[in-house]
Amino acid sequence: MPSTSPIVTIMIRAAEKAGRVLLRDFNEVENLQVSRKGPADFVTAADKRSEEIIFEELKKARPTYSFLMEESGEVEGEDKDHVWIVDPIDGTHNFMHGIPHWCISIALEVKSRIEAGIVYDPVKEELFRAERSSGAFLGQHRRIRVSGRNELESASIAIGYGKPNPEKHKVFIEETKMVSATCPMIRRFGAAALDLSYVAAGRLEGYWERGLKPWDAAAGYLIVKEAGGFVNSIDNEDNPIYSDSLVAGNEAIYNHLRKTLKAA
Ligand code: IPD
Repeated sequence: MPSTSPIVTIMIRAAEKAGRVLLRDFNEVENLQVSRKGPADFVTAADKRSEEIIFEELKKARPTYSFLMEESGEVEGEDKDHVWIVDPIDGTHNFMHGIPHWCISIALEVKSRIEAGIVYDPVKEELFRAERSSGAFLGQHRRIRVSGRNELESASIAIGYGKPNPEKHKVFIEETKMVSATCPMIRRFGAAALDLSYVAAGRLEGYWERGLKPWDAAAGYLIVKEAGGFVNSIDNEDNPIYSDSLVAGNEAIYNHLRKTLKAA
């Protein structure tokens, strides 16, 4: 089993450092739940703090690389071919509500292609990772593969649904209706990067979502591919990471989902 490469080691170090701070913040969020105002401002600050830590760590290791981050947007470096794509907390709503299902997602894009990705869940101490052509792993040693289950009735399918608007809501309802007619075991967990990682680890047979941002999608996209899964934009656009939608799964469930979503 290959050990982690220097580039992935850098990504893991940054995620673990931010993860330690986020875990402390997450415990604090639980105390803020009962306050009238709730923990919204506190969580926004935690999100920014996490991003700053990741930014500093990655910058220190590769000073010339560029960034695309959820909170700060694009930060151009001297080297525009290498871009770190960072989501400092994916599953912010869960985090804010004290639900222990959120993660940090970091990908490295080289000349518009995702070359490496990690998804780190500090609460469950799970780290999903992949590098192009090197397979996908959970933690140091466990190679992961997509599920071999093809039965529609028992397939676990995650759906994501981000910031709502009336038009998107209509599509969401229609698609959910169509998919659930054949695949009733639909789940909505609230962290896109973990949904994709769970597809890669064979915990879910499929996943789809519209309204995604590149930082939600980039690392998980590669992890699914390297685990032998299929993943694409729903409408078959050129670069799925920037397309706003993804559908993923093992081969059979992916094909079924695509067909169904097209017909919806
Ligand atoms: C969100 C989560 C959620 C998904 C949304 C994303 P954030 O990311 O991944 O599951 O449904 O589309 O925006 O805002 O928590 O980083």
